Amino acid sequence: MSQTLWTTVDHYLNAQLVGDDPVLEAALTASAEAGLPSIAVAPNQGKMLHLLAQAIGARRILEVGTRGGYSTVWLARANLDRAGLAAVAQVRIGPGLDSLPKLADEAPAPFDLVFIDADKPSNADYFAWALKLIRPGGVIIVDNVVRKGTVADPASQDANVLGVRRLLDLIAAEPRVSATAVQTVGEKGHDGFIMAVVAN
Ligand code: DHB
Ligand code: MG
Repeated sequence: MSQTLWTTVDHYLNAQLVGDDPVLEAALTASAEAGLPSIAVAPNQGKMLHLLAQAIGARRILEVGTRGGYSTVWLARANLDRAGLAAVAQVRIGPGLDSLPKLADEAPAPFDLVFIDADKPSNADYFAWALKLIRPGGVIIVDNVVRKGTVADPASQDANVLGVRRLLDLIAAEPRVSATAVQTVGEKGHDGFIMAVVAN
C-alpha cells in the first residue's frame, strides 16, 4: 500500500517541479540497457542534489559511486550553469578505495561538495577520504543510509547496514563535522541520506 502511494506522490511532485529531461532519461535508458539495477536517485532527489550544489556555489564536486551517471548529470549541471562549460566531469573507473588514494596523491584543489553513493560497506572509508579532499565548510551527502529502517537494528548482520552504522559511529565521533540524517520515502522506497557540513 505505502509504496504505491509514495510512487504516486513522487510522480505528482516531479510533474509539478522537476519535469522530464531527455538527457537524464537517456542516462536511465542506457543504464537499463547495460543491465545496471534501477537504483539511480529519483528525479526529485537528483534535483535536490543539483539545488544544493547550486545553493553553495559548488564548482568542484566529487561523486563516489557513479554507475549510470544519472546523479552525475544532475550535479554537473549545477556546475555547468555557473561555469558555462561543456565538459566538466571527469570519470575514474574502478573501486573507490583504489581511485581515492590516487586522486589524493594528485593533491587536487579541495572539493566543495562530495556525494557518496557507492558500495555501502566502504561508506566510512569513503567518508574519511572525503574529509581529506573537501574544503572547510564543504558539504558531504551520503545516500541510502536508512535502508528500509534496518539501519536502526543493532543486531543486523547485513554488510550494507553495518557499513552505514560504522559511518554513523565515525561521524558521531568526528568533531570537524556537523551532521544530520533524514528518512525519505518515494518511488525508490524507504531510505534516507546523511548531510554533513565540515567546520570552517
Ligand atoms: C542500492 C544502492 C544505491 O545507491 C541505491 O540508491 C539503492 C540501492 C543497492 O546497492 O541496493
Ligand atoms: Mg544510492
